[in-house]
Amino acid sequence: MTQMRVLLTGATGFIGSHTWLNLLACGFQVVGVDDFSNSSPAVLDRLHQLAGTEPAFIRADVCDASAMAAVFSRERFDAVIHFAALKAVGESTEKPLAYYANNIGGLLTLTQAMAGHECKTLVFSSSATVYGKPESLPIREDAALSSTNPYGATKLMGETILRDLGHADAGWAVALLRYFNPVGAHESGLIGEDPRGTPNNLMPFVAQVAAGKRERLKVFGHDYATPDGTGVRDYIHVLDLAAGHVDALNYLLDTRQSITANLGTGRGHSVLDVVHAFERASGTSVPCDFVARRPGDVDASYADVTLANTVLGWEATRDLDTMCADSWRWQRMNPNGLAG
Ligand code: NAD
Ligand code: WQD
Repeated sequence: MTQMRVLLTGATGFIGSHTWLNLLACGFQVVGVDDFSNSSPAVLDRLHQLAGTEPAFIRADVCDASAMAAVFSRERFDAVIHFAALKAVGESTEKPLAYYANNIGGLLTLTQAMAGHECKTLVFSSSATVYGKPESLPIREDAALSSTNPYGATKLMGETILRDLGHADAGWAVALLRYFNPVGAHESGLIGEDPRGTPNNLMPFVAQVAAGKRERLKVFGHDYATPDGTGVRDYIHVLDLAAGHVDALNYLLDTRQSITANLGTGRGHSVLDVVHAFERASGTSVPCDFVARRPGDVDASYADVTLANTVLGWEATRDLDTMCADSWRWQRMNPNGLAG
C-alpha cells in the first residue's frame, strides 16, 4: 500500500508533536509546518531522537498565502491536520484581533491552498470551549454551542466555516475534534507541554509548584456545585489524544464522511483531585491557596465519548495518575522547558 502523506500545521506544539510521532509510528509520511510562535525548534531534535529519522519540516506561517501555496506546490498531500492556532483564553480577550487574524486567517489561507491542490481531507483542532456553559453533563456533540471569549469564538467560527465548506462541496471530508483538557507528556520525558511565561492551565502550573519553581497554586473557586467545591474537568492524556487523531484521519480516508467528535475520557476530576494525584506522582507537596473564581469558568465539564468510541473505535486508556506521572517526568527532565 502506498504511504499516505499528511501535513501537520502547528506541528512542533504540544499536541502536534505527540501526534506527529504517533502518525510516524502508524506508517504515515509526515511534513510539519510551524512558525515557532509558541514552540521551540528543539522539538525537532527531540522528534528525531524519538522517531529515529529526521522529521520533514517547513518553517512557515499558515497565514502567509504564498508560503502555503508553495508548501502544496512542492508535494502532494492526502490530508492535513490543522493544530496551528493561538490558544490562551485570557490573552484572547486582550488581543482579540490577533486571535481572529491568526486562527481564522490561518484556517482560510490553509483551506484555500488545500482546495487549490485538490486536498480536501482535514482534521481540525476544535475545543470543548465551543460548549460554553454546558446545560447538562456529560456533554454530547449535539449540545448547544456558544462562546464566551474571542478564543472560543475562533473555534466556533472555524467549525462553521468548515461545515459550510462541506455543504458547498461534498468532496471535503472534515473531522472537527473537540478536545477537553489535554495534559501529560510523552513517556520518554523528551516532549511535553512547554508554556512560555506563567502557565495559564492547571497541570503545568501544578508541575511548576511541585518542582519548586512557583510557591503556591491558586485554586480558582471552592464554592462550585461539585463534590469538593473546586472546578471539575475532563483531563485527557496527550498520547490518547494523539491516537484519536490517527483514528479520525483513518476514518476520513476510509469513509470520506465528515465527523464532529468529542475527545475526552468521559470522567471528571476536580482541581483538588489533580493536586493530590500530582503529589502522589511527584512525592512532593503542592501548597494551595483558595482564591476567587476565575471569570468565565464553569462548575464542571466532561465529555460524552460514545461517538468517538463507537464510530472511530477510539478510547482514552490513561488515567489521571499516569497523566501526572508523565507530566512530572517531563517537568523534571526539562526544568526550563525547551527554549531555556
Ligand atoms: P501549542 O501552542 O503548543 O501548539 C500550537 C502550535 O502552532 C505552536 O507550535 C505555534 O508555534 C504554532 N502556530 C501558531 N500560530 C501559527 C501560525 N500562524 N503559523 C504556523 N504555526 C503557528 O498548542 P496545543 O496545545 O498543541 O494546541 C494545538 C491546537 O489544539 C490549537 O488549535 C488549540 O487551540 C487546540 N486546543 C488545545 C487545547 C489545549 O488545552 N492545549 C484544548 C483544545 C483545543
Ligand atoms: C482547569 C481547572 C480552573 C489554573 C482551558 C480552555 C479551554 C481548553 C482547555 C483550549 C479550572 C482551575 C486553573 C490555576 C486553578 N483550551 N485552575 N488554578 O479552563 O478548563 O480550559 O484549557 O481550547 O478552552 O478554557 O483549563 O487548565 O485553565 O483549568 O484553580 O492556576 O483548574 O479554574 O477549574 P480550562 P485550565
